[in-house]
Amino acid sequence: MTAPAAPKDFLPFTRPSIDDETIAGVAEVLRSGWITSGPQAKAFEARLSEYAGGRPVRAFNSGTATLEIGLRLAGVGPGHEVITTPLSWVATSNVVLEVGARPVFADIDPVTRNIDLDRVEAAITPATRAIIPVDLAGLPVDRDRLYALAKKHQLRVVEDAAQSFGSEWRGQRIGASGDLVSFSFHANKNITTAEGGCLVLNDEREAKLAEQYRLQGVVRSGYDGMEVDLVGGKFNLTDVAARIGLGQLPHLGAFIARRRELARNYFAAFHVSAAGALGLRLPVADFAQSNWHMFQVVLPEERLTLPRAGVMAAMEAAGIGTGVHYPAIHRFALYRRLGWKAGDFPHAEYAGRNILTLPLFPAMTSADVTRVVTTLVGILQDHRR
Ligand SMILES: Cc1ncc(COP(=O)(O)O)c(C=O)c1O
Repeated sequence: MTAPAAPKDFLPFTRPSIDDETIAGVAEVLRSGWITSGPQAKAFEARLSEYAGGRPVRAFNSGTATLEIGLRLAGVGPGHEVITTPLSWVATSNVVLEVGARPVFADIDPVTRNIDLDRVEAAITPATRAIIPVDLAGLPVDRDRLYALAKKHQLRVVEDAAQSFGSEWRGQRIGASGDLVSFSFHANKNITTAEGGCLVLNDEREAKLAEQYRLQGVVRSGYDGMEVDLVGGKFNLTDVAARIGLGQLPHLGAFIARRRELARNYFAAFHVSAAGALGLRLPVADFAQSNWHMFQVVLPEERLTLPRAGVMAAMEAAGIGTGVHYPAIHRFALYRRLGWKAGDFPHAEYAGRNILTLPLFPAMTSADVTRVVTTLVGILQDHRR
């Protein structure tokens, strides 16, 4: 993959913060003679387990692998249905297909942009085995209602918390409670290992099984014992990646505090520019629980002469990067072939067409925020219908 060439003062929509100590640590790992999964990956898992209140945690090479293995641990397979949101990265539902089950989408709440739990309950059938909630942009899905629903209908939950590392629910970190919890450490996430992820598990039995699924189903014993009794994959995290993660964890609190501050700056700047009058929809102003993984607005398509791509092009011309997270999953060709059609989930479709991720990352300044808001509001004013 080639990254787009960008001028030096271009403001991307996100950028990882990796300190010199971490860079030196990675160099040490590279010199150490052991670069794949080893002591760094073990140490990273131990730190992640502390983070998750002592629950067992295993590290993987992506937050897609963790979701897929989460589903396998939950016993999800052919003939089963898994309820999830149509507004997420397509990995969320691809993994359901990967294990041979059927995704069942429930539309989003247009305010939180997360799955609407009333619609989840209405979508439950005798074939339903699990729910995959997604904390879009880091805003947590209501865990009280989610787990009350899961308990009532005896369903497993595989939390797709890819975006909510560091978010909280009622004062408790996401991952410290609940059923299976999946995090991603992709480069854009609040804590990164370049690529990677981890799965928070319920007990040591699940942890052993997760290790098997992670590496070809292998169980080792003694010096030379090896057994394989299930089909596993190749999903282990390297020590090089784990060392990045170890260097990121101590900064988590500061990263989130900075993200929250910048999010507050966004709200203030949009308020001053009277963006509401343009019909622009802002995210939920949650400064207690969300980790502000992204700051996303929804453009008012009915009031604009310019489609989202035009707004993005105009922002780029002004030196500002934006992103789309995400198009509605059921509108992709793969999912259309499986039977979904336009109009099935109107809130997700509207958001899918109009949602826009604005720059937000710890190294940004509040002057950057002002510039983003002034530029965006100017573009919207120039293209009012
Ligand atoms: C909501 C969501 N689910 C799943 C994933 C998959 O994570 P990864 O890219 O680490 O495989 C991501 C991140 O890309 C994500 O944002």
